[in-house]
Amino acid sequence: MNNETVLVLDFGGQYNQLIARRVREAGVYSVVKSYKTPLAEIQEAGYKGIIFTGGPNSVYDEASPHYPKEILSLGVPVLGICYGAQLMAWMLGGQVVSAEREYGSTTASVDAGSALFRGLDAEQQCWMSHTDCIAAPPEGFRITAATPHCPCAAMENEEKKLYAVQFHPEVNHTTRGAEMLRHFLFDVCGCKGDWQMSSFVEDSVAKIREQIGSRRVLCALSGGVDSSVAAVMVAKAVGRQLTCIFVDHGLLRKDEGDMVEKMFTENYDIHFIRVNAQDRFLGKLAGVSDPEAKRKIIGEEFIRVFEDEANKLGEIDYLVQGTIYPDVIESGSDKAAVIKSHHNVGGLPERMNLRLCEPLRDLFKDEVRRAGLELGLPYDMVWRQPFPGPGLAVRCIGAVTRERLDILREADAIFREEVAKAGLERDISQYFAVITDMRSVGVMGDSRTYDYTIALRAVTTTDFMTADWARIPLDILAAVSNRIVNEVQGVNRVVYDITSKPPATIEWE
Ligand code: XMP
Repeated sequence: MNNETVLVLDFGGQYNQLIARRVREAGVYSVVKSYKTPLAEIQEAGYKGIIFTGGPNSVYDEASPHYPKEILSLGVPVLGICYGAQLMAWMLGGQVVSAEREYGSTTASVDAGSALFRGLDAEQQCWMSHTDCIAAPPEGFRITAATPHCPCAAMENEEKKLYAVQFHPEVNHTTRGAEMLRHFLFDVCGCKGDWQMSSFVEDSVAKIREQIGSRRVLCALSGGVDSSVAAVMVAKAVGRQLTCIFVDHGLLRKDEGDMVEKMFTENYDIHFIRVNAQDRFLGKLAGVSDPEAKRKIIGEEFIRVFEDEANKLGEIDYLVQGTIYPDVIESGSDKAAVIKSHHNVGGLPERMNLRLCEPLRDLFKDEVRRAGLELGLPYDMVWRQPFPGPGLAVRCIGAVTRERLDILREADAIFREEVAKAGLERDISQYFAVITDMRSVGVMGDSRTYDYTIALRAVTTTDFMTADWARIPLDILAAVSNRIVNEVQGVNRVVYDITSKPPATIEWE
């Protein structure tokens, strides 16, 4: 490890990655590891501090995740959060009891004499989400915060550097939570804060240069944030030894293919290949309306097109992948069910005998964006909203035809233009148009029309696992609707999707 590092030991809570991100925001590198990680491995790694996350269980459940209590006597400071706090109490002989479920904001009285709460007011707004709570701390601990429901909302053993909080300092609802975490990192663990994006980028470029040497590298460019940042980082390191293959499957948004091509060819000295494979993809998709079948076809075809191109290039050694840290984390909780199959170029490296170059595998999404800016990528590209690999095919409900794709592209472009004009781009996480397979009767001038319905979808979310529909002001929706029915032939009705996720998903297919 080059940087001082804090371990987030994952007991399956919902905020695990958020804790790790908060630590990094404070300038300290963090890693998330499962509670199944052996003690010897943790000991060897030389962490500056350890944070136990929350988790959904009770410490008394046999099946709930536990950990050998020797971790508390390594001399490494530990902060337990929620379940992690209860676990620490339980491991050391304190008393944990089942209480009434407490969920939401509450006021805690905190002891400013504690390192965690130094300099803070005696009353702190905290976010609670728990059932069990600590009734009596273990010997040697003192209580440092309490709420009306929870007599031991925080406890500590200063000498042993063991700290625990029942509430969640990592969520914004705990208004001074970031400071509490900083106190733990800097005052208790003695971190200096050496995690800086500028030095990460510099180090990564140097490492890639060393890894690749004089060999050749291939990158499948989708135009998305991750693959673009990864490609640019590799381009900085090895220049024309990098070949980027950009497969235009004909399912991109309006002008998108041209924009990606222009950005890369004008700004970087790399070998850029754009494959115009629209006919190939549309041919395969003809008559297919099942969403999963569409995804499968596009995923397979993508790999085939990519392989065909790569085979023309001769000897290649490395494949760049835009894998990011959330893909790498082996979570303490069970894997979430696969609701929609996402495609990438996963099968390729073995088939083509390629080694992987994954320059972003240590970064969270927000850090990828910062790395992108550091590398000089344009702001719009770095803040580009997510776009599914199967592209507009999953926004074309039912059959995917050239005519319907054109209608969708125009409607989508209008929606995006109006959102940008209203200055809402950064407030909405993802927004797009969908062409439904429904046609309905309308009237235009004196004539009857029988045309498609366009649905507008816009959501706010932090993690894309859950999402709320965006409250776009009605006059902006009115302007979008008006423009779409007037400017896009084949559409006579526009609806706005007001469903959150769950129960709906963000995409319609
Ligand atoms: P859903 O629709 O599952 O989407 O709520 C969550 C996020 O994932 C994106 N998405 C995909 N991305 N391939 C991708 O690369 C896919 O097949 C795919 N399906 C959904 C979606 O746009 C949203 O950001």
